Formats: sequence, C-alpha cells, structure tokens
Amino acid sequence: MKVDGKHFRSIWRERDGWSVGAIDQRRLPHEFIVAKLTSCGDAAVAIRDMLVRGAPLIGATAAYGMALAMREDASDAGMKRAYDTLIVTRPTAINLKWALDEMRAALAPIDPIERAEAAYARADEIVEQDVEINRGIAANGLPLIEAIVARKKPGETVNVLTHCNAGWLATVDWGTATAPIYLAHERGIKIHVWVDETRPRNQGASLTAWELGHHGVPHTVIPDNTGGHLMQHGMVDLAIVGTDRVAANGDVCNKIGTYLKALAAHDNGVPFYVALPSPTIDFAVNDGIRDIPIEQRSGAEVTDMTGRTADGRLETVRIVAEGSPVANYAFDVTPARLVTGLITERGVLKPDRTSLAAAFPERIATAAE
Ligand code: MRU
Repeated sequence: MKVDGKHFRSIWRERDGWSVGAIDQRRLPHEFIVAKLTSCGDAAVAIRDMLVRGAPLIGATAAYGMALAMREDASDAGMKRAYDTLIVTRPTAINLKWALDEMRAALAPIDPIERAEAAYARADEIVEQDVEINRGIAANGLPLIEAIVARKKPGETVNVLTHCNAGWLATVDWGTATAPIYLAHERGIKIHVWVDETRPRNQGASLTAWELGHHGVPHTVIPDNTGGHLMQHGMVDLAIVGTDRVAANGDVCNKIGTYLKALAAHDNGVPFYVALPSPTIDFAVNDGIRDIPIEQRSGAEVTDMTGRTADGRLETVRIVAEGSPVANYAFDVTPARLVTGLITERGVLKPDRTSLAAAFPERIATAAE
C-alpha cells in the first residue's frame, strides 16, 4: 500500500541480497523510519520490542530471522538455536510458530552448506504467500461490502468498524481486516472506517489511521468505548477485525477489547467478521478461551502515553496515579458464537470446526506433528 504516494511493504529483503528492511512501527505515526535487520538477534529484538508487530508480519520477520541465522551458523545446532531464540519472542500470535515450523521443515533435510540460500528462498516465499493470501481475503470480503452497498440508497457510504491494526502494517501488504476495505476503495465504493484507538498501545490511532490516511481511505479515529454507541445509532454497517490465533472451534483471539466489540455488534445486529490468513488457524487448540495463551505486557503501556508536543518533540507522560497497580492483558478471545463469519483466502467460513477443517484440511495434519 502507499506511503506518500509510493508503494511500500512492511518488510523486504534489501538490495544487498541478505539484510532485511522493515518499517519501525514504534515510531509511527510521527516518524517514518526503516530499520535494518542483520542478524537473527536483530529479528528477535524487532519482534519482542514491537518494531514489527501483527501476527502475519511477526511470522514473516521470524522467517527472515531464520535466514539471517543460517548465514551465521547453518549447522543443526545453529538451526535449533535460531528456532529457540525466535519462538519465545511473542506468545499469542500463532503465525510465529507456523513460520518457524515451515522454515525448519524446509531446511532440516538440506546440507548445511546450502541452508542459507534455501532459507532466504523459503522466507521470500512466505512473504509472497502472505501478500497472495491477503489478496484472496480482499476478493472474498468484497462481496460483503458490495451487498451492503446494494441495500443502501445510491451514493450512501458504507461504514466499517475495525479494532487494533490488522492493516498492511500488520502483514506484508494489504492487511487482513483492511484488505476488503482497500479493494472496495480501489473499486470506487464509498467507504469509511471507524478506527478504534486501541488502548493501551494505540495501534488503531497510530497505525491504522496512518496507513488508511496515506492510502486515501476516509476514516475517523474513535475512543475504544465509542463502538457500542455508534452501533445503537445505525452508524456501523459491519465490523471487520483481524486475529492473532483462531482455535479449531472457531474462537477468535485478537487484540484486547475485540470481545466487547463483538458483544455490542451482537446486541445491535451488526455483522461481525474476522479476516484471517490460514497460518493464523491453530488446529492444535480446541478451545480458544481455555487454551490460547494471553500475553501480558508491561504496565508502562497503561501508565504512560507517548505523543508529539506542540513544538514537535516526542514526549512520554504518565497518566495513571503514582502507586496504582495496573493490568495489561494484550489479547482476549471472542467466542465463535459471536462471529458472523471468517473471511479467509478460501472463502467466508462459518466459525466452527467442520467449516475450518473442510477448508484447510492440510493444516490439520501439521497441527498433529
Ligand atoms: O500486539 P500486536 O500489535 O502485535 O497485536 C496484534 C494485532 O495487530 C492485532 O491483534 C490484529 O488485530 C491481528 S494481526 C493481523
């Protein structure tokens, strides 16, 4: 998607052929800075410190992390060390494990002398596959938006609510939740996005709004607690969110606060869709609410806020009373019964075991390994 009129991806292989460029998402929306990753350690820190973030992009970064590691030490021990280093960087997004397992399966049978080249080739494939999958999500999600257009009066705008950042910054390109939105916009459909600010890290306010703005998609940032009010007043036609892991039973783990939006949508008869690439499905987890590990992040994300001052400086200020304890659960799980449908690269599925298994039978086999 576009930044200042120029096409960008969130991650890429640099011209030198081996180092990896990535947009530093910690600095957005105030500064557009590209980071250079030159080692497996760099990739691990980039994921852990949220220089990159969003489930699919975490997977892509881990794949390149494995490739960088193979330049350093392509032995079996080196491969294991890289896998072990990267797998512990973030706990909830299953795309991390998926990408690392893919890399390990591709590299294990190969002579160590050839592993670095093979690792870059497989990582590049994972990256291209992400873009293709998201194009599929765009194509499959578009009819949902077109159906709303058909019901509306001519010239009326379709209003979509989204939470967190499941845009192109969370993936390699297109995004998941935003993919149908970008395609609708490209097709000339009048579309407007309600962007939840997404406390405590504000991925909506700082990332989703930034990318929609740069691509020219009309949007409005709202405090997280506004969605229910908008839905009650007919101001949301549908909600589309992303996800960090979908359990075999269709339960959806996503950024904290998603569950509350799903409840409000249910109460108001607003369709609530989840857009996901197949690597986000975890067939090894049968019950999302019980079994998906929920990352707990630093309390500083709750107590402190960073922003730009009137004279242009970036400053962090404390907003919570000194001494008050805080809790920072980074994700929650929306039960499948509150999800209208799962927008995947293979169609819009019912959020249940049978539909997921029928659409992605090959993923069941890998989950059993
Ligand atoms: O903690 P983050 O910023 O890595 O959160 C993950 C997300 O971006 C969201 O939960 C998103 O909606 C799903 S990833 C496409």
